[in-house]
Amino acid sequence: MKHYLQFKDFRAEEYAYLFERARVIKQRFKNYEKYQPLTDRTLAMIFEKASTRTRVSFEAGMYQMGGSVVHLTTGDSQLGRSEPVEDSARVISRMVDLVMIRTFEQTKIERFAAHSRVPVINGLTNEFHPCQILADLFTYLEHRAPVGARGFDLSCLKGKVVAWVGDGNNMANTWLQAAEILGFTVHVSTPSGYEVDPKVAGIRNTDCYKVFDDPREACRGAHLVTTDVWTSMGYEAENAARIQAFANWCVDASMMAVAQPDALFMHCLPAHRGEEVTAEVIDGPQSVVWDEAENRMHVQKALMEYLLIGRIG
Ligand code: CP
Ligand code: NVA
Repeated sequence: MKHYLQFKDFRAEEYAYLFERARVIKQRFKNYEKYQPLTDRTLAMIFEKASTRTRVSFEAGMYQMGGSVVHLTTGDSQLGRSEPVEDSARVISRMVDLVMIRTFEQTKIERFAAHSRVPVINGLTNEFHPCQILADLFTYLEHRAPVGARGFDLSCLKGKVVAWVGDGNNMANTWLQAAEILGFTVHVSTPSGYEVDPKVAGIRNTDCYKVFDDPREACRGAHLVTTDVWTSMGYEAENAARIQAFANWCVDASMMAVAQPDALFMHCLPAHRGEEVTAEVIDGPQSVVWDEAENRMHVQKALMEYLLIGRIG
């Protein structure tokens, strides 16, 4: 049994497989073809933080694949009344086939997984957001990679540069793990005090990223420019200090201008126009944020199929 708790839980070869499955599953969805390999399977979704995309993509995806979902939050379950996470895992995993959790500390999802009889998926923790980077990479490949007989050619990622502008947060950590596994480089620019920590990011090879004080320099020559909210969920008390610290880390047209001429812009959303990105960039021609959001559902359908059924064909 496999869990998907962080990006580095899978190898490059498994990602190649997942991207190809996501491509096929997306095509079927677009053609209104019924595809229900998860009939009679149940996904429990546990949200200890807010969500729009993660909830809709997992819930719609599971129903489309023939299964059903149970939606739990801290407020309406015993999780909010201090039932131990280990006991919750033991109970929930006896009744469902798969669990997706969005919570605070990564250690909490690890404790849950250690006591679960069924696969567990990370739907975002303070440290990581692997489903989002799965969707982001799929989106990049859809826009930029040749498709051969065996799907996307992942070798096209080698040598590419992703510019990360903003907080050294769960998204940044996950980008670093992806870079280490898939062979690209992340140019990271964060305000001082908000840097990425390779130990938290969980990478061994620090060559997969370079740090830049100036966000414009991080964007120079990049194939993809990406950012995220200045204040992630769980850090709201720091909001005022962050607004001051991050003022120069707004992705604007001048940053996109020094990236590759065909660079893409991504943002996991929700976005704050005028803070981490200008409206001109996020609503402009290089932005693929709506594809990125939609692709959450297609890649997660491939992920759920892989965790519950294994390889097809
Ligand atoms: N990008 C993302 O995870 O969005 P939600 O917080 O809306 O789920
Ligand atoms: N870094 C953000 C991502 C939201 C999808 C957060 O953790 O709130």
